[in-house]
Parts: sequence; C-alpha cells; structure tokens
Amino acid sequence: MEPYRIKVVEPIPQLTRQQREEALKRVHYNLFDLRAEEVTIDLLTDSGTGALSAAQLAAGMAGDESYSGSRSFYRFHEAVTELTGYAHILPAHQGRAAERILFNTLLEPGRIVLANTHFDTTRANVELSGAEARDLPCAEARNLDSAEHFKGNIDLDALSRTLDGPDGSRVAMVVMTITNNGGGGQPVSMDNLKRTSALCRRHGVPFFLDAARFAENAWLVTRHEPEYRDRTPRQVAEEAFRLADGCMMSAKKDAIVHIGGFIGLNDPELAQRCELLLIATEGFATYGGLAGRDLDMMAQGLTEVTEPAYLAERADVAAHLAHRVRSAGVDIIEPPGMHALYLNAGRLLPHIPAHHFPGHALACQLYLEGGIRSAELGSLYLGEEDEDGNPTKSAPYELVRLALPRRVYTRSHYDHVGETLAEIAKRADSVYGFRIVEQSPILRHFRATLEPV
Ligand code: F0G
Repeated sequence: MEPYRIKVVEPIPQLTRQQREEALKRVHYNLFDLRAEEVTIDLLTDSGTGALSAAQLAAGMAGDESYSGSRSFYRFHEAVTELTGYAHILPAHQGRAAERILFNTLLEPGRIVLANTHFDTTRANVELSGAEARDLPCAEARNLDSAEHFKGNIDLDALSRTLDGPDGSRVAMVVMTITNNGGGGQPVSMDNLKRTSALCRRHGVPFFLDAARFAENAWLVTRHEPEYRDRTPRQVAEEAFRLADGCMMSAKKDAIVHIGGFIGLNDPELAQRCELLLIATEGFATYGGLAGRDLDMMAQGLTEVTEPAYLAERADVAAHLAHRVRSAGVDIIEPPGMHALYLNAGRLLPHIPAHHFPGHALACQLYLEGGIRSAELGSLYLGEEDEDGNPTKSAPYELVRLALPRRVYTRSHYDHVGETLAEIAKRADSVYGFRIVEQSPILRHFRATLEPV
C-alpha cells in the first residue's frame, strides 16, 4: 500500500469523448500541443510531475533566498555531498543544464562519448559541443520480451574494444544512465558499474553517471543482484556514486521536485571551469538558476526517495499496471521498469506500417478513449522520410511510453489505463495510422502536425 496519505488534492479534468475528438483535431493530432486541462491522466513524463511531501513543502517555506551563500544552498550541498561523496557540487536548474555545462567544458569536436544509451537531451548536448554520442547497450537489451534483470547494462566487450581500439584516444568520457530511460527504463547492475569504472580508470577516461533515477536503480539492485540483497537502497546508491568520477542529475525525477538538478565532480580543475560557465549562464554557484526553496526541497526529496517503503510501493504500482496491460493483451518491454512502461505498439498494430506511426496511433487512441496522455517512442520520434513522404529510416521498435509520476496517481487511475487499453486492443485492427503534414528539421515529434490516413 501507499506509505502516505493524501492531504492536498487537485481535481483532474473530465472531458466527453466529443470534447477530446475536437481537442485532438484542433492540435493537429500532436499530443504535446494539448492543454493539460484537456488531459485526464497525464503519463507524458515522470519529470517534475511528482507530488511534494509535507516535509518538502515545509523545507521550502524555510528556504533562504539570499543571492549568495544561502542556508538553503548549504543544506542542499550537505545532502548531495553525503549521498554522492563528490568533492564539488554545482546546482543547475535541471538535468539538461547540467549536461550542457559539463559537456561544453569537457568536450570538443572529434571527441567521443560512450554510454549504455544516451537520453535524447544528453545526446543533443554532446552533439551541440561537436562531439559524437555513441551507444553501447548490452545484447540482452535487444530482446524486448526477455525478463532478464539488468538490460540497462553497457556492453562491456564493446566498451573494452572501443577503449583499446583506434578510437580509444578520442573517448572523452563514459556515461552510464541509471536507470536506462532510452532503453526501457531498465536498471544497470553494480557489477556492470564496477567493471565499467575499472575499465575507465585503467584507460584514464572520466566515468560519469546520468543519475536521474539513481534510487530506482538502487532498489532494483537490492531486489535482483544477490550480493546486494541485504543492503538498503541508500547504501547501494552511495556506493554507485562513488564508483564514478562525477554525475549529472535531473532532480525532477529522483529528488521528487518540480525543478532542479546538479553536477557532482571530483576533479577540482574541471569543477572550476564548470563553475565559471555556470555563473555566466545559469546563476551564481550557490543557486545555479534555482530559488533557495527549490534547493531545500531537493535536499529533503533526496532523503525521501531512497526510503524502502516508498520504493517498494513504486515498484508495486508499476507491476500492477504491467499486469493490467498484459491482461489487456498488450506487450511491454519486459521486465517492467519503475518510472514507466513501454508498450509494444508495433506488435499490437501490425497493419500500420512504420511510416504511418503505430506508436502515435496508439497514443492518440489512449487519449480519445480514456483521456490518457502518453509519449510515442517510435518512428515519429526516430524515423525519417524523403520529400514525397516515402520512408527512408524507421525506428527499431514502435513503442509508447506510459510514464508514472511519483506519488500522484492511485491504483484506480491505473486501472482506468488498463481498461482503456483493453478496449483498444479488442478492436486493434480498426485503429488507423497517421501521416505528417508539417514537421521541423530536428526533434520533429514535439512540433509535427499530422492527419489520419
Ligand atoms: N537524463 C535522463 C536519463 C532523463 O530522463 C532526462 C529527462 C534528462 C537527463 C534531462 O533532464 O528534463 O531535467 O533537463 N527526461 C524526461 C523524460 C524529460 O520525460 O524522460 P531534464
């Protein structure tokens, strides 16, 4: 059961099917353009959408809004230092700001960043600094149906080969995304982190964590890695951070705040250079683009997020929804992660070709049928067509992500999602695809307009 009770509530919008049909037409079938007031259950992201605790709100009220050296900064600094052990901590307003500052300082054209899988903003920031982002996911990640536990791991053989090979001297850093959001929200084992750390150390290559969901990763380690069965998630997290030379963190996930992030570093010279860029572009080094209250709420959230009762319930809710989804006859990337479920839309809608976007088709049906907003992760996001609309590149899988905001929806909300999916699955062959009417040259899924085919 939930290890909390509800003190403050917010009504959720209830629309008629006709209102949803009109809304979808008005936004040219792009779910990003809906007003949130038109969405009943919003599973677009787990980022910045969590519910604050009473203790976080209280900490925020006590926030110190001094421009420099605020009490809030020192509380935040102490909380992050104790958790991560890094010598230098720089606040930033969110994860991608931390990425930009670190990559602009550390990378240059011609260099390579290796990762288990780069999240899309991480890749974009690597590429914006002129470097190459290369993914080395483990082989198990390719089988969506296998229930192996650490499909977020990096491919150690490929990592070792690259570091030893002709490109080795160009590798500027290795990034491990925990959990692996780009790869189904799958966790990385401590064994994989240790071996990666040792390889990086041997080659003198900095090793960084993209730690947005470090607590969920730690929980799954305590469940599935025998050596860690008797440890607390907090102990696992502390050890994981100490295997790396630094981290980038989007606190909008596993610090359960609406805005926030940070960089953690051991290298004093790198920290100094990052700090200069931070001051020039985010804010002074003791607030980094945040209010004092945000820093206090982050500090508090970082202690709550590793509580076993909180993590156990979060895993249980994901498993509950996964069960409902499978019973509806819809496959997911197995095993279910903790922050999201990834629906296999390609398999549910085999009659819709990739260039008519089966993932987007399912996402639109979820909205029309149940007022549920989700995110397509398929060929609308990753594919390309030529000027005549003929496909030139499609995504490896046609997926829809149902992200689970922290402490926000109850099991009955998720039962509604399961029931809606069951209705759609029953008449899957009548679900129609889409064609793009207009699109932008990059990140087209955010801004594309579409029409049914
Ligand atoms: N790294 C990972 C693994 C992420 O999932 C995200 C954001 C970021 C970095 C960037 O952080 O949003 O604070 O700037 N993921 C969100 C999502 C947007 O929906 O998965 P940010």
